[in-house]
Amino acid sequence: MTEASEILFTLSIADTLNNYLAKQSFSRLVVLVDENTEKHCLPIIKEILHQPLIISIKSGEEHKTLQTCEIIWEKMTQAQLDRKALMINLGGGVIGDMGGFCAATYKRGIRFIQIPTTLLSQVDASVGGKLGIDFMGLKNHIGVFQTPLAVIIDTNFLQTLTKKEIKSGYAEIIKHCLIADAIKWNEIIATPYHQLDWFGLAQHSVVIKSKVTVSDPLEKGLRKILNFGHTIGHAIESHFLNIPNKRLLHGEAIAIGMIAESYLAFEKGFISKQDLSQITKYLLEIYQKVEIFDFDIEQILPIALQDKKNESNAIQCSLLEKIGKANYNIEISLKDIRNGLNYYNAQSLNTI
Ligand SMILES: NC(=O)c1ccc[n+]([C@@H]2O[C@H](COP(=O)([O-])OP(=O)(O)OC[C@H]3O[C@@H](n4cnc5c(N)ncnc54)[C@H](O)[C@@H]3O)[C@@H](O)[C@H]2O)c1
Ligand SMILES: [Zn+2]
Repeated sequence: MTEASEILFTLSIADTLNNYLAKQSFSRLVVLVDENTEKHCLPIIKEILHQPLIISIKSGEEHKTLQTCEIIWEKMTQAQLDRKALMINLGGGVIGDMGGFCAATYKRGIRFIQIPTTLLSQVDASVGGKLGIDFMGLKNHIGVFQTPLAVIIDTNFLQTLTKKEIKSGYAEIIKHCLIADAIKWNEIIATPYHQLDWFGLAQHSVVIKSKVTVSDPLEKGLRKILNFGHTIGHAIESHFLNIPNKRLLHGEAIAIGMIAESYLAFEKGFISKQDLSQITKYLLEIYQKVEIFDFDIEQILPIALQDKKNESNAIQCSLLEKIGKANYNIEISLKDIRNGLNYYNAQSLNTI
């Protein structure tokens, strides 16, 4: 993996990209979009691009596959792109992860720029160098670590994103505050949701994620703190993927995971009852309560056992030590997960 990328924040993406590209030398630009970012985001930058090759793929996690990569590599090959071509991935985490992977592997790697257009990809997916695709039903099973030349973030793109998608991305912002910045946590919980400043919060999240990933790019240690909420959250997300009317967006599942895992941190004596109550109350104010039945729990538990992050058959979790600090490699049991989910279930909607 190469050194950290340049991360630029702007509220005028066309100008910023134009200036940035003027400093680069490349043979041709290739832009990857899906039908939504082609419609809402591409027009904003298209005028400054000189004869770009536009590749448009179908949106959605179900298309983050090797088959779609083949389509992308085919189009790049047909256009005779050489190793000096520069790829721009204009879209959410799916476009960024898959486009980055295609760029990192085409002719053993061409340079690429991430322009994330969802809140989730702006505050999380575009930083840290993880690229890849899903394979045989396993998320991000095939991939590489590679840093983009630059990440350019413009929160104006969020104007066309659904409220639900924005809330999903916000869960990662909340996570970053809980694991690394108690002052910011106090600030966000005191701010009405509709008054949150996405530009400032995106910058804040990116600073935290960059610091952590630069210090541990290959996730040998500290980077694992970014998995707070994800051991239980991922298992919940995967389980409800199979139940069409209960499917959750990533951040919606992670919000539940953060409540359940905060309970474990309380049970293990790390965080206080007051901290647990504050976290629970805030997350339930933002995210709609989901019914998790006993039969759901029975299916969620084995999924948690298969988590990529587990080692030597034990479930490894990252838990809060206090608000603003997290620890990693904490072994938890299936019983712990059950307790965490039971705690979540026991929260009544009236407490909101
Ligand atoms: N690499 C990492 O470190 C990392 C971290 C977190 C998540 N991820 C990955 O990110 C993916 C999820 O990312 P996501 O939530 O951005 O999903 P996504 O890329 O599927 O985007 C969500 C939806 O929003 C649409 N969209 C994107 N930008 C838009 C805009 N500005 N206006 C209107 N519609 C727009 C997309 O077409 C899509 O339908 C997952 O595949 C996940 O594995 C990667
Ligand atoms: Zn996440």
